[in-house]
Amino acid sequence: MIAPLDDIDRIMSVMERAFSAEFGEAWNRRQVGDALTIGNCRYGLIAPDGAEHLAEKVDTAGFFMSRAILDEEELLLFAIAPEYRRRGLGHRLLSRFLSSAKATGTARVFLEMRYGNPAAFLYAAHGFQEIGRRPSYYRTPTGDRIDAISQELIFQEYSDT
Ligand SMILES: CC(C)(COP(=O)(O)OP(=O)(O)OC[C@H]1O[C@@H](n2cnc3c(N)ncnc32)[C@H](O)[C@@H]1OP(=O)(O)O)[C@@H](O)C(=O)NCCC(=O)NCCS
Repeated sequence: MIAPLDDIDRIMSVMERAFSAEFGEAWNRRQVGDALTIGNCRYGLIAPDGAEHLAEKVDTAGFFMSRAILDEEELLLFAIAPEYRRRGLGHRLLSRFLSSAKATGTARVFLEMRYGNPAAFLYAAHGFQEIGRRPSYYRTPTGDRIDAISQELIFQEYSDT
């Protein structure tokens, strides 16, 4: 999926606000652009009112990026800008991502996240389950080490919320 430059701007505007620099989770513009020129990566946006298609002047509240490999899809990035959080947009965007993955024949969705990220509550609410850990995968500037948690969702067990 090739993204128009405007959409890369939209993704970057959320990326720069949503991820704490402490954990090094944000991607730069080049990484996003490169990923979205590869055929098996896709993305989705969400407006502050939950709309999927954003009119020109509308702010971007959040985005996801994912990569499909055979009948599996990895959720690479998922974020809602801080000022739009805790009003259900994360739930809506994740439901939209999962429904579209299921509709295109994906059997399993996979992701990795930092241990302790409150996103775990969101993923659990949609049926993700922990399947593994990479000990000390993240390192903070102060030298703390944090595990990466691998999670999966098997679509046989998923119903749209
Ligand atoms: C995780 C994130 C996408 C949630 O977005 P959101 O729009 O606030 O999500 P919602 O309002 O739909 O809430 C979803 C659920 O997540 C959980 N949640 C979200 N933020 C939380 C927090 N700070 N503390 C505890 N639970 C939280 C809650 O269970 C919430 O459901 P509830 O409000 O019904 O209790 C957002 O906080 C974010 O972008 N974080 C930074 C980027 C990131 O870490 N992304 C995930 C990478 S793996």
